[in-house]
Formats: sequence, C-alpha cells, structure tokens
Amino acid sequence: MGEMIKILGWDDLMMMKKMVRDVSKQERVIIIREYDEEKDKLNVQEMERKCEVGPTNGETSLYTDDLGDPISRIRHSPNFLMLVAEMETENDQKEIVGLIRGCIKTVTCGKKLSRNGKNGNGNDIIINSNIQGNKFIPVYTKLAYILGLRVSSSHRRMGIGLKLVTRLENWFAENGAEYSYMATEKDNEASVKLFTERCGYSKFRVPSVLVQPVFAHRIRILKRIQIFRLPTSEAEKLYRARFSTTEFFPRDIDSILNNTLNLGTYLAVPHGTFPSSSWPGTDKFLRNPPKSWSILSIWNTKEVFMLEVRGASRTRRALAKTTRIMDKALPWLGIPSVPQLFRPFGSHFLYGLGGEGPSSVNLMKGLCGFAHNLAKESGCSVVATEVSSCDPLRLGIPNWKRLSLEEDLWCIKRLGEDYSDGSIGDWTKSPPGISIFVDPRQV
Ligand SMILES: CC(C)(COP(=O)(O)OP(=O)(O)OC[C@H]1O[C@@H](n2cnc3c(N)ncnc32)[C@H](O)[C@@H]1OP(=O)(O)O)[C@@H](O)C(=O)NCCC(=O)NCCS
Repeated sequence: MGEMIKILGWDDLMMMKKMVRDVSKQERVIIIREYDEEKDKLNVQEMERKCEVGPTNGETSLYTDDLGDPISRIRHSPNFLMLVAEMETENDQKEIVGLIRGCIKTVTCGKKLSRNGKNGNGNDIIINSNIQGNKFIPVYTKLAYILGLRVSSSHRRMGIGLKLVTRLENWFAENGAEYSYMATEKDNEASVKLFTERCGYSKFRVPSVLVQPVFAHRIRILKRIQIFRLPTSEAEKLYRARFSTTEFFPRDIDSILNNTLNLGTYLAVPHGTFPSSSWPGTDKFLRNPPKSWSILSIWNTKEVFMLEVRGASRTRRALAKTTRIMDKALPWLGIPSVPQLFRPFGSHFLYGLGGEGPSSVNLMKGLCGFAHNLAKESGCSVVATEVSSCDPLRLGIPNWKRLSLEEDLWCIKRLGEDYSDGSIGDWTKSPPGISIFVDPRQV
C-alpha cells in the first residue's frame, strides 16, 4: 500500500504528464536545421508577422518588420547563424514553427594593468587609465549572442524553444565561443525561465533602453556647444583609446564604424574649446583632452527593421495625431508631440556614448538633440539607445518613460568549463562596470 502511495506522488504525476507530452511530440517529428533563404523566407516572415516581440502594454503590443530579410539583424556580425524548427504536419506538409538567431563576436570582458602600454597584438594605443595614472588594457573573449527566438503560439511548451537554444549553443561551442548571452524583458516569464531554469543562464546585467520620440519640430542646440563629425579612422582611434576597456566593447569596432548603416560619430565640446572650427585630430585631442566632452555614434536601424505599435484605441491614435498636427503648425512652441507609432516606423540607434568632465551631461544632451534632428530629417519616429543603469551620462539622454524599458535583462552562460580563466576569472561572476558598450548590430 505504501508503495502504491509513492507511485502516485506529485513528482510521479508530473513525470507521467511529461511522458504523455513526449509521446505526442514523437508523433510529430521536429527537425532543427539551418535557415535556407530561398526555401524558408516567406514562411519565416509569415510566422514572425503573427508573433509580437516587445512589451505588451495593456492593450497595445509591439511588432517588428524585418523588411523582407529575416537575417537582417545578424548579417552585420562577423559570424552568424539562423536555425528553424520544422514540423511535419499530418498530410506530410512541413511547417516552420520556431526560429532562433545567433552571432559570435570578440568583446571586452574585463581589463588588466598594462606593463608596456601596448596590448598583445600591439594594435591599441593604451590611454585607458585611472586617476593614479595606471594604464589598463582590455581582456577580450569570444562571445555569442542569442536573439530573435520565437516559437509559434500554437506550438509552445512542447520543448521546441529549448531544442533551438541547445542546437545554437552547440554551434557556438564549435566556433570557439566562451560565453553566450541573451537579452529579454525581465517580466517575460517564458523566456526568463527557459534560459535561467532550463538552459543554465544567470542574470547578468540590467541596462536601460531609453527611447526619445522624434517631434515634428527641430530641437534647438545651444550655441555654447560645438559639435564635430569625426572621420571614421579618427573615431576608431578615439574609441579604442578611451573605450576599449568598457565591458562588451567590440574588438572589430572598425567594421561597425565602416558599415553603411553607421551614420557617423559626433563629439561635442564647449564652444571655443578649440581655436579652429574643424576637428583638431584624435592624436591632438588625446594628448590634451578638453575639460569636458561627450561622444556618440548613430546607427541607421531604419534600414534593418521597422516597428509598429498595434492595438491602440482609436481615441489614443486621434489624440496622438492632433499633437503632431499642432506641433507641425506651430513648431516654435516646441510641443512634445507623439510621433507616428501606429504604422510601421523607423528608428535610429545611438551607441558608443561616453564623455568626461563637469559639462559632459549637458554636452550629451546637445548631441541627443542633434541626433533627434537627424532622425527627423530621415523620417524616423524614435531615437533609441541602451546604457548601463548607473551610467552618469544617462541624465543627459532625453527619453519618454512610456516608450523606454527601465530594465532590459541580460542573461549569460559560460559555455565551457575548460577555458582558462585568464586574468579576470569567470566573467559571469564579475560585478558590473559603470558603463557598457552596446553593439548596434545586436539591436
Ligand atoms: C519563449 C519561447 C521561445 C519559449 O518557447 P517554447 O517552445 O514554448 O519553450 P519550451 O517548450 O522549450 O520550454 C522550455 C522551458 O521554458 C520554460 N517556459 C517556456 N514557456 C513558459 C511559460 N509560458 N511560462 C513559464 N515557463 C515557461 C519552462 O521552464 C519550460 O520547461 P517545461 O515545459 O518543462 O516546464 C516562446 O514562449 C515564445 O516564442 N515567446 C514569444 C517570443 C519571445 O518572447 N521570445 C524570447 C525573446 S528572448
């Protein structure tokens, strides 16, 4: 009798439930394979069209349109892969029921003291230093990133998401990635549980996604701020010298800056800092940096995907339209009008944000105003960025709370235990830095 009670315990019932599920899974074969552009494009697009991606904010939700290219969000990374989950239907047809994308890149995971002022391959000018004047060099690691995981709503909780992640991780490991990470909303229970409870990821960083609406009027840039556009090679030199020890800094920053999606790097200083109105050159700047400066780069996400808020009531849409009409008619009033969000809209992404000195926050504000005006000229509805939640410069980044995401949860996993710990140890256990470098290719 005692044994009988044991067999029907809670754990056993759960096990039986799982077995029943496994049997029904076996009836329908699921194949995980590489995405085939020619064969799968339309089916993948159809599946994604039905799948909301962003915050479900009451009645509204956010949809994405990849502009006819399902790999648009990974194709600019050095190494990438997209997998699909295909299921055989009863009448021998095949249906795509899940997808996942991943890419691998080399990024900074820590820093160490430099002995000779140069890093291992001698490429970086080492200017990253603390107040004691100690010079630091970056410690790089091969990092994989998971994005765009979707399982069609009629096929969830059948183990397809888990299978897709596991297969992608195998590819990461085969390609030498030491860590894998992903980003999700912290209240996306399905995604958080899948990664933390079933795939061995741990919660790592919680940067903020800040979204600034693009108004119908231009933003006035204060005359006391001077903004320079840096030539790409000058921007690269400055980023390597000043940002290469920032967590997640991509070692191939040059390929990001040279990408056609990059709309330029801009640096702001107080007016009159440099005698001439042209950029004095990065070498000169680094030798004798001004007391205050700020920098950012702009990425043309509008060419990668469009977003759309669906489900807003007629009244809300009408109110938003009214604010835009008024703003357009009376631009000098600077009405904070609601941009066009209810039809597919484009955005720009600000990355590589940084700066120093007592006026850096104000200078950042000026740069964001400049970026706003550029986005307005390009017909974008929002300008977005992602920064560490404790980054002091975030005070200079205008944003609307309703459009932003206070905590974007990044989860990380160490892919192999046999990697040498190097000088920083296990990155997954390290404390966060003040800043984070968000790669625009992963947006
Ligand atoms: C997240 C998502 C991909 C999960 O796919 P899935 O195929 O349903 O997941 P699986 O069946 O492989 O689930 C594996 C584990 O994840 C967790 N999980 C998945 N869905 C869950 C849910 N709705 N609630 C709680 N836990 C969930 C469970 O631990 C589950 O294991 P269990 O079924 O043995 O309890 C799917 O819900 C989805 O496409 N969501 C919309 C898009 C999205 O949010 N993508 C993630 C962005 S990173």
